[in-house]
Amino acid sequence: MDSLRVIQYGLGPIGCAVARHVISRQGLELVAGVDIDQEKTGKDVGDVIGLDHQLGFPVAATLAESGCQVRADIALHTTNSYFPLFGDQIVELLEAGLDVVSTSEELSFPWIAHPDDAKRIDAAAKAAGKTVLGTGVNPGYLMDSLPLSLTAICQRVDRIKVTRHMNASIRRGPFQVKIGAGMTVEAFNQRMEAGRMGHVGLPESMGMIFDTLGRRLDRYESSVEPLMADREISTEHVTVKPGEVRGLKQVAHGYADGVEFVTLVFIAGLEEETNEDTIEIEGVPDLKVTMVGTHGDLATVAIAVNAIRRVRQAPAGLVTMRDLPIITRF
Ligand SMILES: NC(=O)c1ccc[n+]([C@@H]2O[C@H](COP(=O)([O-])OP(=O)(O)OC[C@H]3O[C@@H](n4cnc5c(N)ncnc54)[C@H](OP(=O)(O)O)[C@@H]3O)[C@@H](O)[C@H]2O)c1
Repeated sequence: MDSLRVIQYGLGPIGCAVARHVISRQGLELVAGVDIDQEKTGKDVGDVIGLDHQLGFPVAATLAESGCQVRADIALHTTNSYFPLFGDQIVELLEAGLDVVSTSEELSFPWIAHPDDAKRIDAAAKAAGKTVLGTGVNPGYLMDSLPLSLTAICQRVDRIKVTRHMNASIRRGPFQVKIGAGMTVEAFNQRMEAGRMGHVGLPESMGMIFDTLGRRLDRYESSVEPLMADREISTEHVTVKPGEVRGLKQVAHGYADGVEFVTLVFIAGLEEETNEDTIEIEGVPDLKVTMVGTHGDLATVAIAVNAIRRVRQAPAGLVTMRDLPIITRF
């Protein structure tokens, strides 16, 4: 069988790791890399993604520039998290005749939090006869499709709680920045109010769980608090002084019929001692599953690439993780 030809759109830390993983996988061929960062455009894609050899094609500043040289089957899209910033990019990829797997958080289940954007992307995909999926470790898996999958062995579900507790010291630089590491509390609070910091995706995970289990989300509440450093912490990417922020705790509550049905707890801090994910389901029976070893960046790269096979098999339109057959390493 011919290899699937893959375009990597967005060459930040996640996109570079996805591109390297594509190259390591049988049946996939990396044929182009796109990024607007002028530090990268024009350089050989192999150099930019950190290979020890060149690939013979440069990073293109736009899809049109890359598309002149290649015909590809699918785009792996890893540029940013918010619809106003990535929506047009997805439409452009679909209109270029590509299936799309994206790590953009707001795309993972936009039907409730962003219904107009969801309809627009779905219509563009159907018009192009192509499929688009938003996925990743979270949202996309740990706080939504994995707990949903566990309910298959429950006769009744009364309540779901997912706690993701991470040592952010082992994560990529942009993640450490997103959780506020190195900021003063004042700067942290200002950035949170502006809505462009912290974990993105809790409303999407909440929406996927409620919608799939047939519950109405009556009320959604969320809170964020900074985790403070009591000593100096240095990573490859940031230095945090005592009294500065080393991470955050975000909690989202979803209510059905006045009762809390889903709780999502996201804790990410530099030098956090606990590094595990726990899913608790109250019902018949009660279940508790703890996973140790999930590395958010490795996991996101894996699930984006592993999803390719299912996306290629899926009908045209916007699909989400709950719509596809089980995604596995293939
Ligand atoms: N769902 C999940 O579980 C999950 C997990 C991990 C990451 N993510 C998301 O995946 C995305 C990628 O992560 P990252 O850490 O690699 O992000 P990043 O460091 O922000 O890298 C994104 C790259 O895409 C480039 N870019 C931005 N707009 C572009 C455009 N219009 N055309 C081409 N390139 C463009 C950026 O260039 P500039 O630097 O010049 O802007 C940058 O090089 C983020 O949104 C992240 O939040 C999701």
